[in-house]
Amino acid sequence: MTEQDLLKTLENYGQYHILDHYRTLAPHQRQVFLETNRELDLRLVFDLFRQFSKKGHAGHARTTDIGPPRIVCIPRSACEHDDALRARSIGESLLERQKVAVLIVAGGQGSRLGFEGPKGTFPLSPVRGKTLFQLFAEQVRALSARFGVTIPLLIMTSGDNHEDTVRFFHGNRHFGLAPDSVRFFSQGVLPAISPDGRLILRDEVHFYTNPNGHGGSLKALSDSGLLARLIAGGYEELFYCQVDNPLVRIADPVFLGHHSMMDAQVSTKVVRRRSVEEKVGVYLDVDGRQAVIEYSDLDEDHMRALDDQGGILYWAGNTAIHIFSLSFIRDLNSDGFALPYHCAKKSAYVVSSDWEPASIDVWKFETFVFDAVPLAQRACCMEVAREEEFAPVKNKEGPDSPDTARRALIDLHRTWLEKAGVEVPPDTKVEISPLFALTPEETAEKLRNRQVAISPEVYIE
Ligand code: UD1
Repeated sequence: MTEQDLLKTLENYGQYHILDHYRTLAPHQRQVFLETNRELDLRLVFDLFRQFSKKGHAGHARTTDIGPPRIVCIPRSACEHDDALRARSIGESLLERQKVAVLIVAGGQGSRLGFEGPKGTFPLSPVRGKTLFQLFAEQVRALSARFGVTIPLLIMTSGDNHEDTVRFFHGNRHFGLAPDSVRFFSQGVLPAISPDGRLILRDEVHFYTNPNGHGGSLKALSDSGLLARLIAGGYEELFYCQVDNPLVRIADPVFLGHHSMMDAQVSTKVVRRRSVEEKVGVYLDVDGRQAVIEYSDLDEDHMRALDDQGGILYWAGNTAIHIFSLSFIRDLNSDGFALPYHCAKKSAYVVSSDWEPASIDVWKFETFVFDAVPLAQRACCMEVAREEEFAPVKNKEGPDSPDTARRALIDLHRTWLEKAGVEVPPDTKVEISPLFALTPEETAEKLRNRQVAISPEVYIE
């Protein structure tokens, strides 16, 4: 966009406060203003503003027909166990044939956790204080070694945390992964807007922007050229997770296997919702297609619906753990980017027109990666046990906090040791390194001829 185009666009959308400000800038500042803002999709922001300001606009959740979806549940019968075994061997074969890459989305602002710095650099593991990034990278390293392949680890960052994230991996020698197998790419940003439709300045030359939502990962992966490189390298499936869940089983072979057995384009792991109030997306069948609707978008009746036994009727909570077929991501990008935008109305701390910091209301526009689910011809949904795979770190304290996630890791690894025949006294902190074992079976196998010294803090590596 040239200077003329940018100024014309601002004028067309009535942004006279920005034009007035621009006129006060010195020539070199105007240059910076132009350079930093020329890539922003202002037209999209104003279109979205118009769309979301329409009276009665109700987001994307207006649906006619909601029902329970088809879900591969935690195996109970012999037949279901056989299916899981079959899935595991198919998933292992995908890993062995080097068909799987891993993506961790880490571009969010993490404001609820109140931690300065990228969320992935938060020290979380209970004994060694390993960061979230280290826990994930070590899983990738363990899987790559086991299958004798390179599993690319892609990390999506955003403008605010990109450099810190890259520096963190460099500073930690990529946690033993080959440096060129770890790739970073930045998601896009969009300017936020005030409820009366005015762009907001962050400082003299920048608009106040926000990352464009984790749905932006699917676009940024394509725009960065990484998607094409993965496909050219023979990779077929992308294991996707959020940076906030230390219990995630990276590239779980059983999950990969079910995805493959259903020939799915996208797959999702779900857990049973803890309560009708839990703030998770709900996995549903919507108008004959599988979909996730965010708790805040789902109407109360469906959110709170109970079955005949008093259980939660729509029980499947979104863990944000997915598999995407790379060809599906390519198709989503081939004809414009297909995901719808959502509008988050929040307050933000910004500088005001007289350059004093102030808290103001802003509208932020984002896409959600799970909106790709209903766009797929074939989707797979698999239930997993919350205590084994889902303990996200969202809040500073209380539910979904570092304390609850650490507790979940300790409890999980304690059960692995107990299954291996090791007695663990109560109050013992337990941590098993991903480089030692990724599953209870592997733990038992490796501990068969080994004594575990029990102390108040047990670390097994
Ligand atoms: C999210 C899901 C919810 C799911 C829950 C599971 C949404 C809207 N909802 O809720 O359905 O049940 O996780 O834990 O996502 N991120 C980016 N870029 C962005 C925005 C977010 O990379 O622009 C990343 C964050 O770093 C984080 C993750 O996405 O890892 C989650 O984002 P957040 O907005 O915190 O969603 P949740 O409320 O956690």
